[in-house]
Amino acid sequence: MDPTCRRGSDFGGRSAEFTMSAPPALGDIMRDQVALPPLETLFETKHGRALKLTPNLTRLYGNLRMPQARFRQHVFSNFVTTLDGVVSLQAKGHAGGADISGFSVQDRMVMGLLRAIADVVIVGSGTLDADPRHLWTPDGICPELTDDYRRLRKALRKCVTPLNVIVSGSGQIDLRLPVFTSDRVQALVVTTTAGANHMRKRKVPHSLEIRAIHRCRGMIPASSVLDAVGQMNAGNRILIEGGPRLLGEFYARRLVDEQFLTLAPQIAGRDDGDGRLSLVMGQTFAPRSARWGTLTDVRRGSNHLFLRYAFPSMPAPKNY
Ligand SMILES: NC(=O)c1ccc[n+]([C@@H]2O[C@H](COP(=O)([O-])OP(=O)(O)OC[C@H]3O[C@@H](n4cnc5c(N)ncnc54)[C@H](OP(=O)(O)O)[C@@H]3O)[C@@H](O)[C@H]2O)c1
Repeated sequence: MDPTCRRGSDFGGRSAEFTMSAPPALGDIMRDQVALPPLETLFETKHGRALKLTPNLTRLYGNLRMPQARFRQHVFSNFVTTLDGVVSLQAKGHAGGADISGFSVQDRMVMGLLRAIADVVIVGSGTLDADPRHLWTPDGICPELTDDYRRLRKALRKCVTPLNVIVSGSGQIDLRLPVFTSDRVQALVVTTTAGANHMRKRKVPHSLEIRAIHRCRGMIPASSVLDAVGQMNAGNRILIEGGPRLLGEFYARRLVDEQFLTLAPQIAGRDDGDGRLSLVMGQTFAPRSARWGTLTDVRRGSNHLFLRYAFPSMPAPKNY
């Protein structure tokens, strides 16, 4: 499929802006814009190549280094968590990340920046369900910086928007959602054969590609997801935005190179059986097979910390 460069401009939040009963008014967004203060870099390493950000993004974020992803896929993930490790409250109208970050505009700025340097953004169907009208584009999360993100992508010679990938074993997803029908992004669904059969019984929008992973039932191996993404020739910089079940599968296969993690200064709490999610669900690693990372970057935005860890990873399945 031709990686057509299309424009995306929707709102989201670490989702929730769309799922909240009262979406933010333009006035609030404009106030945020005025109030968007720069991050303070507390610790950084010199690994990777410094990307040439726009002057405004450099002012807001500082230096951003990324490894060359010319010959292999580079997989990085970005989440926000509370101090007590909750990434989703799983409460109606409050399931998204915005309730976790406290609607932090700096968190949205970083999300937009990471999307702006990504060729591909991958999410699971649960994350799509939580924010069904969202597009995983830089300006979809931080419209205030639309122009900066657009200029950055142009300088990096990337398509206007990253490929939006939804992973779903069952194929039980609504194909009428904007991510499939808005024509603002190119979308790929990676699913099982049964899931693809289920989806093809309905009208498949022309901007949607469906890839079925054969001989696979239930969980699709992360390596197969990356394989399917690689076949789209969309590029090697792969951003995983969740949710926890999808991310767990990537950690299980040791296919995460880096974790960006915003630490929001709230204690959310948990009750037995309330279903609140943590960063990784559906997998257990410690104590037998803990995944230990190396801290590579720390920034501060008011009371939030923006952390970055490197993880030893397996080489991605193929070099594209
Ligand atoms: N705090 C944050 O930064 C953050 C980030 C992302 C999401 N979230 C929140 O997390 C919540 C969703 O959590 P979640 O764990 O349910 O989300 P998820 O990982 O996006 O979705 C899980 C579902 O997607 C499908 N899926 C994911 N990976 C798959 C694989 N490898 N193979 C086959 N199917 C796969 C499966 O459903 P089917 O087979 O039925 O399709 C699975 O039940 C939402 O509330 C969201 O807002 C928070």
